[in-house]
Amino acid sequence: MNEELKEVVGFLRAYIELERESGTAEFFGAMAPKDDSVKAHIGQDLEALKKEVALCANCDLSATRLNVVFGSGDPKAELMFIGEAPGAEEDIQGLPFVGRAGQLLTKIIEAMGMKRSDVYIANILKCRPPNNRIPLPTEILACEENVRRQVEIIKPKVICTLGKFASQTLLKTQTPISALRGKFQEYNGIKVMPTFHPAYLLRNPQDKKLVWEDMKKVKKELKLPE
Ligand code: URA
Repeated sequence: MNEELKEVVGFLRAYIELERESGTAEFFGAMAPKDDSVKAHIGQDLEALKKEVALCANCDLSATRLNVVFGSGDPKAELMFIGEAPGAEEDIQGLPFVGRAGQLLTKIIEAMGMKRSDVYIANILKCRPPNNRIPLPTEILACEENVRRQVEIIKPKVICTLGKFASQTLLKTQTPISALRGKFQEYNGIKVMPTFHPAYLLRNPQDKKLVWEDMKKVKKELKLPE
């Protein structure tokens, strides 16, 4: 190899290395350590959004919250659960679904053959409405963009919306949850399975079997073992 060619090859190597490090490894296909670098990218984007949302003051809930409850789980999850809003325990811990309804959600996830850490869990509202009142339309409007961006980064294969507010917000409908549940719909090209909220199931345990029917459809869609 003559000197000039060596210089060009060296330059190209350095360039490829730089691109890899700056997170554009996708463009190099099989040459790049794709899985790990793409995973790291998703994690970084989600962390950046989390930092942004932590400072949010787009609605009055920012004045009464203890913590912003951004979401938790695997940023690369194939399955994402979206609930309504943080409650008292979630507000204290800064984590979604850690109270009684959350314990039931954990059981549902485990009954599907997964762990909580395998999925991603978030809410439509990132801050607790005082006294756990229902979200106001203005609060949903102010916060909707955050969940849209979370979904865009995570790109799950399936979203399971928990209860009326999450389902109606994502699906832009006023149809009651009893009519929505159990039927796949779409949100920005991603399959959505609306189902009852775990807090509703705590009050109406007879409907747990309906949620299980919905989760079986989710499992099938994700090709999880039966
Ligand atoms: N209910 C929700 O909708 N979200 C939580 O995080 C907890 C309870």
